[in-house]
Order: sequence, then C-alpha cells, then structure tokens
Amino acid sequence: MPAFISNRLLAIGEAMVELAPEGGNHYQQGFAGDTFNTIWHIGQLLKERAKAGFVTGLGTDGFSERFIAEMQDDGLDTTAVLRIPDHTMGLYLIELKGVERSFHYWRKDSAARHLADDAPALNQALAGSGLIHVSGITLAILSPDARETLFAALSAARGAGSIISFDPNVRPRLWASTEECRQTIKSMLSFTDIALPSFDDEAWLWGDRDPDATVQRLMAHGVAEVLVKDGAGPVTAATGHGTLRIETPPVTAIRDTTGAGDSFNAGYLAGRFLGLEMEAAIALGQRLSAAVLARLGARADRSEIDAIRSVLGR
Ligand SMILES: Nc1ncnc2c1ncn2[C@@H]1O[C@H](COP(=O)(O)OP(=O)(O)O)[C@@H](O)[C@H]1O
Ligand SMILES: [Mg+2]
Repeated sequence: MPAFISNRLLAIGEAMVELAPEGGNHYQQGFAGDTFNTIWHIGQLLKERAKAGFVTGLGTDGFSERFIAEMQDDGLDTTAVLRIPDHTMGLYLIELKGVERSFHYWRKDSAARHLADDAPALNQALAGSGLIHVSGITLAILSPDARETLFAALSAARGAGSIISFDPNVRPRLWASTEECRQTIKSMLSFTDIALPSFDDEAWLWGDRDPDATVQRLMAHGVAEVLVKDGAGPVTAATGHGTLRIETPPVTAIRDTTGAGDSFNAGYLAGRFLGLEMEAAIALGQRLSAAVLARLGARADRSEIDAIRSVLGR
C-alpha cells in the first residue's frame, strides 16, 4: 500500500440526530451515522497523532450547532462542514420490541444531502488528506449531479496521493433502484484503494456465493486492498500478494450490533495509518468492534478505547 501523504484523515457522509429509547416515552438524544462513527473512533484512537475530520452538510440551527460543538469537544476537525441554511440534520428513532431494534428515519431532506453542493469548497477540503473514507450511504443520499462532483473531487485528491477507503454499506431503501446502486458503486470502486465491504451486503447486491467471490470481484475492479467482514465469521483480506483469512474472536455478551462494521473500519484504518500489517490492523478492528458490540449504541466506551490505545503503546 502507498504511504499516507499526511495525517489529515477524513470521512465524508451523514450524521443524524439519534433518539434511543430509555423506557416509556423517554429517549436519549445523540448523534450517529456510519462514516461519522468511523471517523469518531479513528479520532479517539489516534488523538493528536492525526487530524481526523468529518466532511458533511449541516444547517445553521441549534442541533447542527450542538453537533459541531460535540465534534470539536471530541477533537474532530469541523472546518470542512458545509453549512446549508434552511436545512437541518436527518433524524432516526430506534424502536425496541423486546430486544429487537427497528429504525425509523426522517432524512429525505437533510442538510447532508447537500455536502457536495460547493465543488471548490469540497476540493479544497479534500486536498492533501492522507485518507478519505466514503460509504455507500454517502453516495446514496446524494443527487446524481452531486455524486459526480464528489467523484471528481475524490479522483483529484487520489491523483495527488490521498488514499481512498470505501465501505459499500448497502441500504436498499436509500436507492432509487438496485441498478442505480450497482452502477454508482462500480464507479466508486474505480478509485477505491481500500474496500471494506460486509459479506451479507455483497451477497445481496451481487449474488456473491462466499467472501472469496467478493474478493475476486473487487480485485477485478482494481481495488488494491480488500477486507471482507462477515459478522462472527472470519475476515477475508486480500492484496495483490495473496489472501488471508483471520478468525473473529468470539464476543459473548453482545448488547447491540449497531456500528460493528463502522468501528471495525476505524480500527483497521487507524492501524494501517500507524503502519501495522494487515493482520494486526484487522485485530485492532476486531477489538474495537467487540467493544462496540458490548454496548448500546454505535460507540465504544472511553475506557475501552483508552485500553486499546495503551496496547498500541504509542
Ligand atoms: N456476532 C459477532 N461476534 C463477534 N464479532 C462480531 C459479530 N458481529 C460483528 N462482529 C465484528 O464486527 C465486524 C463487522 O461486522 P459485520 O456484521 O460484518 O458488519 P456490519 O455491522 O457492517 O453489518 C466483524 O468483522 C467482527 O469483527
Ligand atoms: Mg456495514
């Protein structure tokens, strides 16, 4: 893998206001979203060794202000947030039926859908970044024109040395059609350096029979580094030099699977940034996602993140 050209590490996408049930009619309000969850964990793992930042669209309202303040408190760079007057953050509410969780979304008109509306600002935000992380959800929420703007910006940044990571995170409901989803993801893969798919998504979208088929398909698109996550199953990792299969350590007390993939991505990418080999970076991803599985919500406990940081020993 080429070296990271700088310690500016970015994720592009949508964070939403989260309402999580606390019993009765009481809800705890937070902020979450796949690419945000990833960059948040990268920021907490790496602290001052990196400048982790989130690229999104937000409004000028109180919720947007609070989210920016919270990101800044957590050490994230927010200078690339595009402010969209007259729009606000999307929202989702978690409904609990016993231990089953279902999600209700209000995000069709969110400010994040406009994150690529200002092409020069986007280009400037991405310029010189070591890493730019994008997901299929990022692509799904954009208009076709905005996707082209984003692709042009990613391709320019990549041409200047930025490493692009991509988690397809397929969410059928966000796409106008399966074909549109497939075509957009194919375009994205043409400038992806590190792909981080989950096997169940890929099996659904492409009919892959097993993780090896996913690896073959992505390598055929020219992706240099492919990591296929598969829940409790092994991670299948591949580069031009060969394929590794790494068992996933069992996690016993799972409370909530939300954000498992996002935090795995964070551990893996932070590990690669620190110069770890794939196997050690995968172990870091697995350890971080185990910490997320043990808790309600998409974020690991601070004490667990600190424990992982101390193992990194730097
Ligand atoms: N049941 C599980 N037991 C242990 N680890 C798990 C389990 N589910 C997920 N993980 C961890 O989270 C990672 C991502 O899980 P996966 O379910 O594939 O992603 P996503 O959350 O995107 O659907 C896995 O590679 C693994 O490290
Ligand atoms: Mg996922």
